[in-house]
Amino acid sequence: MIHETIVTTAACDGRPHIAPMGARYEGERVVLSPFRPSTTLDNIVASRAAVLNFTTDVRIFAGCVTHCATDWPTVRASRVASVRLAESLAHAELELDEMRDDAQRPVLFMKCVHRENHAPFAGFNRAQSAVVEGAILVSRLFMLPADKVDREMAYLQIAIDKTAGDNERTAWGWLVAAIARHRANLEAAGGAPATVAHH
Ligand SMILES: Cc1cc2nc3c(=O)[nH]c(=O)nc-3n(C[C@H](O)[C@H](O)[C@H](O)COP(=O)(O)O)c2cc1C
Repeated sequence: MIHETIVTTAACDGRPHIAPMGARYEGERVVLSPFRPSTTLDNIVASRAAVLNFTTDVRIFAGCVTHCATDWPTVRASRVASVRLAESLAHAELELDEMRDDAQRPVLFMKCVHRENHAPFAGFNRAQSAVVEGAILVSRLFMLPADKVDREMAYLQIAIDKTAGDNERTAWGWLVAAIARHRANLEAAGGAPATVAHH
């Protein structure tokens, strides 16, 4: 099972970095798999630490993958050499236990050394799930056929129309704009859209 989270890390100079990333659990260990090149990977290797932030503010997922909003407030983590989101439902502080290196996608096995709960979970919201799915599409635009993106966005739009609040509508707007920007850039470069199906 993979949980979609916001991973926060700090560079050597303390500069925070925020990235949506899937987290798997293997027994007591949390497993992260960043594709190279990755600032998250570089920061974890240097600091041996990261934080998993559990949030339903899907603007952070959409803001990071579209680069529309990347500077969400962070504060220092309590126990590890990292930062955490200033606002989340909960967070888990991780230390690097083992790294299986790979030219494309290294696997990082992390140990949780501290957890904090901050706010209650209000329940599932379909528009939030739709934004997370849309953010994954946007992060893979370079390899997905345009008609697949259109079909999936049209389906996800139903949940947005029925159940979104302000944050979800803002996040969805960033995703829709990023897709339009990507297509305009392709056209300007004179290239045809990619047609390699990923899965
Ligand atoms: C829900 C979600 C899950 C993601 N999971 C991963 C992941 O497991 N590994 C990865 O390399 N990128 C993942 N991405 C894409 C990264 O967030 C994005 O490529 C980011 O720029 C990572 O690079 P960075 O560490 O340099 O910021 C995910 C994106 C979304 C929206």
